[in-house]
Amino acid sequence: MISCKKRAKSTFLLPFIFIFFVVSSAFAQETAQVGTAGVTPGSAEAAPAAGGGGGADAAVIDAGSTLFKNNCAQCHAVTAEVVVGPGLKDVHKRRSQSWLQKWIKNSSALIQSGDKDAVAVYNEYAKQQMPSFAFSDDELNAIIAYIKQESESAATDMAPSGVPGAEAGAQVGTNAPDAVGGYVDMLLIVLVVVLIVLVITLLIIASVLKNYLKNKTDLTGAEQEMLERRTNFANIYKSKAVRVIVGLIFIVVLVDISIDKVMGVGIQQGYAPRQPIAFSHKLHAGDHQINCNYCHTSVYKSEKANIPSANICMNCHSQIKKESPEIQKIYRAIENNKPIEWVRVHNLPELAYFNHSQHTKVGGVECQTCHGPIETMEVVAQYSPLTMGWCIDCHRNTPLNTEGNAYYDNLVKLHEKQSKGAFIVASNGGTECSKCHY
Ligand code: HEC
Ligand code: HEC
Ligand code: HEC
Ligand code: HEC
Ligand code: HEC
Ligand code: HEC
Repeated sequence: MISCKKRAKSTFLLPFIFIFFVVSSAFAQETAQVGTAGVTPGSAEAAPAAGGGGGADAAVIDAGSTLFKNNCAQCHAVTAEVVVGPGLKDVHKRRSQSWLQKWIKNSSALIQSGDKDAVAVYNEYAKQQMPSFAFSDDELNAIIAYIKQESESAATDMAPSGVPGAEAGAQVGTNAPDAVGGYVDMLLIVLVVVLIVLVITLLIIASVLKNYLKNKTDLTGAEQEMLERRTNFANIYKSKAVRVIVGLIFIVVLVDISIDKVMGVGIQQGYAPRQPIAFSHKLHAGDHQINCNYCHTSVYKSEKANIPSANICMNCHSQIKKESPEIQKIYRAIENNKPIEWVRVHNLPELAYFNHSQHTKVGGVECQTCHGPIETMEVVAQYSPLTMGWCIDCHRNTPLNTEGNAYYDNLVKLHEKQSKGAFIVASNGGTECSKCHY
């Protein structure tokens, strides 16, 4: 009896030990990946500073990262993707260190020297000339170390690139959701493992109990019968409880899929897609203080705030920064008579009606109340949740801007007679379904 109890106890512990191993090894993987990505100086420093190999000094990579962002990022990404020049992922495997140094210093000299690879790349990119860079060898090595580092971290799918959340802007915007998706996947896998382990544990416990009871002699006939009964799978299938559970799981999965769909439509806080041109609100609306409605000309007049056409950009960029490859993209759009394909950030579902002029002009609500500090954003991100609850919350808490608006005078008097509260948007029907739904 005692030994039996003990056995049951120890088998009960087994799954927990197993889970511990699964979880801890998963986390070990995570930290290892973060380590190779060199996100925090701390973790990168822990890696051996073996110059030529995978792990270069964190400070060197940091310097390389800055140099790259300031000089190369407008034409190159460290992925397979072509921006203006080729994607630089794994370029250190295609080319030797000395080739790379020569190329970056003066690519045209290398091309003119007749180097086979240099000529091939030059021809492949329609004979565009990459600018020359007067870097020191240390600086060149730092850039190359950074490219190596990025290539390797890009290879491990989930590793975040660059500095998460901060300036890295477009890159972080595209990579962060992947990383989050990775964590969710991992969590799901752990959950499934836990469930399987639980089932196994229960089966083990059942058989241990059965064995124990079998050895008992003082069982009644009915008890004996129950013990002998074999598990009948047809019965399980017919059982009401099982059907209900399967049905519930099915519904949960369906709901989950439809939530994903809605999210896909674009109601997603923090959504910051990479744009076709590296247009910065920080530079234009922040540093140069260009008014929002210089570009979004309809935002005070109509339902939709427009995205400016390339012609508006040309008011300035026919003169400013003409040689910048990003500005060249505007010229190309105009030459080809094709609009720039900006990726939409905010996206209410069709069923909801939202009107900008009602809020900006009539209501006097600032852009920033809903869109956040746009004038500090390199890449526009969705700041507010844009859910129904968010709209209604504000309507319940915001007094109406009635001053100097004769239309409201009578309504306000009526309201003051009926209730003591402030005359808020909700008092004027701002929470009626039909105001926001057609
Ligand atoms: C104005 C755009 C531009 C900038 C800025 C630029 N490149 Fe390039 N790069 C190119 C183009 C275009 C090519 C393709 C070859 C050619 O046509 O010259 C290229 C090719 C390369 C190649 C060869 C790739 C291969 O597959 O062999 C490397 C390496 C490279 N660039 C590194 C850099 C680095 C490092 C920087 C920053 C210090 C940089 N580039 C800045 C446009 C640019
Ligand atoms: C020089 C022109 C210019 C100015 C000034 C400007 N914007 Fe923009 N805005 C754009 C362009 C171009 C886009 C589309 C590309 C992007 O999303 O970055 C855009 C996109 C946006 C979006 C996202 C639209 C979407 O896709 O859902 C918002 C919100 C926005 N701007 C708000 C503002 C606010 C608020 C200001 C003033 C603080 C402002 N903008 C000033 C040009 C401008
Ligand atoms: C009212 C003037 C004005 C308008 C309109 C304007 N810009 Fe600019 N833009 C500037 C100024 C000023 C700079 C900063 C130039 C500098 O750094 O020397 C700049 C810089 C840029 C840069 C960075 C270029 C680089 O390589 O550093 C990009 C990209 C850009 N603008 C895109 C656009 C786009 C796209 C539009 C149209 C939606 C636009 N701009 C409209 C004034 C304007
Ligand atoms: C009361 C909240 C609110 C205010 C204030 C507001 N916006 Fe918006 N904005 C939204 C919502 C919600 C959307 C999404 C609309 C949609 O998807 O139909 C949006 C979308 C946009 C878009 C994308 C184009 C469009 O119309 O869908 C731009 C550009 C924009 N806003 C600019 C501005 C600017 C500039 C201001 C200030 C002058 C401003 N917004 C003020 C809530 C607001
Ligand atoms: C930051 C506060 C704020 C948020 C967020 C907000 N609104 Fe409003 N809304 C207002 C104010 C203020 C008014 C009143 C404007 C006026 O004076 O008529 C208003 C009025 C309206 C009206 C007209 C109501 C009427 O009585 O005629 C509609 C429709 C509306 N909002 C829809 C929306 C929708 C849809 C959203 C969410 C996507 C939203 N609002 C988010 C502040 C907000
Ligand atoms: C102030 C504006 C506003 C009012 C008032 C409002 N809604 Fe909405 N509603 C929205 C917006 C915006 C969405 C889309 C965003 C979302 O799904 O949360 C929405 C979404 C919905 C959806 C779809 C939910 C989903 O997940 O797809 C339903 C159903 C709905 N509303 C019903 C109602 C009913 C019923 C009322 C009246 C009691 C009402 N709404 C009042 C703004 C409003």
